[in-house]
Amino acid sequence: MATKSEALKARHTAAVPRGIATKSVYAAKAENAEVWDVDGKRYIDFAAGIAVVNTGHRHPKVMKAVASQIADFTHTCFNVAPYEEYIAVAERLNKAAPGSFTKKTMFVTTGAEAVENAVKIARVATGRTAIVSFTGAFHGRTMMGMALTGKVVPYKKGFGPFPAEVFHAPFPKVYHDLTVEQALAGLKDIFAGDVDPARVAAIIVEPVQGEGGFYVAPVAFLQALRKLCDEHGMLFIADEIQTGMGRTGKMFAIEHAGVVPDLITMAKGLGGGFPLAAVTGRAELMDAALPGGLGGTYAGSPVGLAAAQAVLEVIDEEKLCDKAVALGKLIKGRLEDMQKKNEFSCIGDVRGMGAMVAVEVVKDRTSKAPDADLTNRIVAKCQEKGLLILTCGPNANVIRFLPPLTCPTDLAKSGMDVFEQAMSEAVGAS
Ligand SMILES: Cc1ncc(COP(=O)(O)O)c(C=O)c1O
Repeated sequence: MATKSEALKARHTAAVPRGIATKSVYAAKAENAEVWDVDGKRYIDFAAGIAVVNTGHRHPKVMKAVASQIADFTHTCFNVAPYEEYIAVAERLNKAAPGSFTKKTMFVTTGAEAVENAVKIARVATGRTAIVSFTGAFHGRTMMGMALTGKVVPYKKGFGPFPAEVFHAPFPKVYHDLTVEQALAGLKDIFAGDVDPARVAAIIVEPVQGEGGFYVAPVAFLQALRKLCDEHGMLFIADEIQTGMGRTGKMFAIEHAGVVPDLITMAKGLGGGFPLAAVTGRAELMDAALPGGLGGTYAGSPVGLAAAQAVLEVIDEEKLCDKAVALGKLIKGRLEDMQKKNEFSCIGDVRGMGAMVAVEVVKDRTSKAPDADLTNRIVAKCQEKGLLILTCGPNANVIRFLPPLTCPTDLAKSGMDVFEQAMSEAVGAS
């Protein structure tokens, strides 16, 4: 007889388009850093809903805040009957974001929407049109999100034309010998050959590329971008949708570089499992749009905001930035130990920041040729053995580790044991 998962898979395939790619772990329950599927199989969660439940699944404080909000009201639309939660979370984010200037915050529902709004704000505030993003970047699946994204398959293929005035500069990749100097030279080529920097409204950058393969932007690169922005009157937008909310060991990853962005986009971890996204930035930029130019029916749901209040408190109270550093050290340490073993010569690179760690799987360390097949087999073995883990990268050969920041140390160690065993079996079957 078919398992519940198999039966769901058949219904899923018949009812849902294939463009929405999924794993086949059908969730029935989740608690902190564990997920159980509909057949009762338990998984250690190293995906956290793609860096969403940084505070763990169903954190008691988040659940309590949401229950209390639902008991009062669930939706009035902020434009129709505004509410204090929106203002209170805006105040908190204005304080938490880097920069000693006055800031304002607006809320939307998804990361892509935050990116769309950051671009709208940058354009209306500067009176300029062009936007620079980077190869390998991921900024979402809306039209502008796709335009800014630096990867064609599967994100852009067949979906164009995209909004004009978007230019992709090279993103430095230390492991692949693409240096900061080369990346900056590429950007300067764009300014010389494609678009006058005086027409560029903003540069948007992920301090650590997420979907793009967990390449960490070197400090010198981010600082040079800030300098170029200042020289040419362009705005610096930090896309912290995956890197934010304590994930890298600071509230925002850009803080590691000592760079102050003009606008920050956030989503994912902000709502702790409830849909919420935000743009925080310099008050005068945030105020550039005319009344009615920003917002949306569900923009800043009171339920998501109640969750966000609790999330921000939990990050503080439970010192989740410190925990991100400790978890990252544990995971990276284990991966680096594995890398030293002959058996794991497929581990090309171990990198990341805080609890945003990745391993790049290669055919051999000299050519660094990507091994997507082996990567898939490792991830499938992990799933078989009860570890939920994701891939990323332009060649689908990077495995990313994104546990909830509340993941107990012993559970993280067990997860790494499962990973090592899974990798060993996958390599052995090669
Ligand atoms: C850096 C970054 N920007 C934007 C997005 C888009 O967010 P969403 O999927 O919530 O629209 C993502 C999602 O993975 C992301 O990682």
